[in-house]
Amino acid sequence: MPTILITGASSGIGKATALRFQTEGWNVIATMRDPAGSDLRDLERILIARLDVTDPASITDAVTRGTDHFGAIDVLLNNAGYGAYGPLEAFSTDRIRRQFDTNVIGLLDVTKGVLPQMRARRAGTIVNISSIGGQITFPLGSLYHGTKFAVEGLSEALHYELEPLGIRVRIVEPGMIRTDFGGRSFDFAMRDDLSDYGPTAEAMGRLFGRLASNPSTPDVVSDVIWKAVNAPDGQLRFRAGPDAAELLDRRKNEDDDTFINGIKALMAG
Ligand SMILES: NC(=O)c1ccc[n+]([C@@H]2O[C@H](COP(=O)([O-])OP(=O)(O)OC[C@H]3O[C@@H](n4cnc5c(N)ncnc54)[C@H](OP(=O)(O)O)[C@@H]3O)[C@@H](O)[C@H]2O)c1
Repeated sequence: MPTILITGASSGIGKATALRFQTEGWNVIATMRDPAGSDLRDLERILIARLDVTDPASITDAVTRGTDHFGAIDVLLNNAGYGAYGPLEAFSTDRIRRQFDTNVIGLLDVTKGVLPQMRARRAGTIVNISSIGGQITFPLGSLYHGTKFAVEGLSEALHYELEPLGIRVRIVEPGMIRTDFGGRSFDFAMRDDLSDYGPTAEAMGRLFGRLASNPSTPDVVSDVIWKAVNAPDGQLRFRAGPDAAELLDRRKNEDDDTFINGIKALMAG
């Protein structure tokens, strides 16, 4: 049976995907920062491993453990991530670095951790979780969108470099999904002396309220990930959720001004 290694499998999309692949008969290396108490633990063919994408030693340990246990890693799902939102001025450099270290550098480090064995076998699939926010942006999202635009670009570039070696790259772009993303994974920054940005924060709230009124379940994304892994070669990007399909079609078909004015209309009071 093939094996998938998933980052951020403690909740949301990562956990739903662990359950989906396990149900399909795959071996799953479900990695997370704090494995204690994970209810995935008792399922057959699931190995729980500690992996913090910002801790290189934990990446090496989890890849080694998973490979020793199941023989090889066929698919890597780079899912771990969170959203830093707020005016740029409200973020310390450390907090900015944490966003990029987690969503971008961590993803690159985990990818580097599995590539040698995939390259040696001339086989493997890397699935990177981007977002609709990897192709379009919302106000006060300079950091989160910066990371997801980076994920889009680095994934597209990597696909040229890895395809000749038999390794496929897939980008999955979820719309609004009902997970912990808007709660514990939402790092909102604001300061009392930055009230100049107050109206934009309110506009962001209205926009999110409108766009997130009917979020999809994580199963919608795990289903798309399943299809992306099993699709015949060729397709790079996969959208997840009806809102992703609609917004990304608009982004593609409208000129810049028309699209951006449409976003501003959704922000209006
Ligand atoms: N929900 C949405 O609307 C949406 C839309 C588009 C894209 N996405 C993307 O989907 C991915 C998963 O998010 P989700 O919606 O499933 O939210 P979630 O339920 O909050 O899951 C986020 C996961 O990332 C993990 N994580 C955060 N920092 C980490 C680190 N340094 N090392 C390892 N794991 C770390 C969290 O682990 P802990 O349990 O340890 O915190 C958690 O497992 C993210 O990349 C997000 O950007 C989400």
